[in-house]
Amino acid sequence: MSWNATVLTLFPGMFPGPLGTSLAGRGLERGLWSLEARDIRDVTTDRHRTVDDTPFGGGAGMVLRPDVVDAACAAAMPEGDTRPLVFLTPRGMPLRQKLVRELAAGSGVVLLCGRYEGVDQRVIEARGMIEVSIGDYVLSGGEVAAMVLLDACVRLIPGVMGAAESAEEESFSSDLLEYPQYTRPAEWRGRRVPEVLLSGHHAEVARWRKAQAEAVTRERRPDLLNTEQGRDASARAPLHAAATPA
Ligand code: ADE
Repeated sequence: MSWNATVLTLFPGMFPGPLGTSLAGRGLERGLWSLEARDIRDVTTDRHRTVDDTPFGGGAGMVLRPDVVDAACAAAMPEGDTRPLVFLTPRGMPLRQKLVRELAAGSGVVLLCGRYEGVDQRVIEARGMIEVSIGDYVLSGGEVAAMVLLDACVRLIPGVMGAAESAEEESFSSDLLEYPQYTRPAEWRGRRVPEVLLSGHHAEVARWRKAQAEAVTRERRPDLLNTEQGRDASARAPLHAAATPA
């Protein structure tokens, strides 16, 4: 039983792209997961293969039609397909490791990539789509965001990562940013590796790493900390707050 990803897109040629290389690509070759990119245009029946139309109420750009998107979803999901349907959009809830873990633990995911101005809201609601954003910036479409989400999920599928590349002790597994890493040489351009790391005292190393992780998190991402300072930082992030569903 493998983890199955289906991507609905107007640009199926963008896939597998980077997901065909490295860890994810090796996992694909070994059948640990599968990736199917489906052209939304393939479900159209008119001569011009129309997928979009002008927005009601006016404004720039084009909106993907609900009937076309619904037909693309139906064609991609056989009867009884229980995989969650995720729509990549800057209006979505922020992608976090918690959602990545939940998606990776399931049977797979169906991803809808938007282009143009958006997707008719009715099909998003009718299909119960989960709207997800990968960050507070606007990409030219959902395809790169879909790749980001898939990369994050696929590395958690059992067997994809070797024992050498443990997914455990790293940023966001513990809700802290990772401590800094060093390797040989012990001195480089006059910069010495912190002495504690050369000491061989495992307990002291662990204590130092924990302190470093807490310090860098306080400095760069206080919003990750469950402290008053962290809650203040979260409250100052209006886009995140607005994007998080009630
Ligand atoms: N499509 C365009 N921008 C996006 C973003 N930031 N996240 C997810 N999908 C997007």
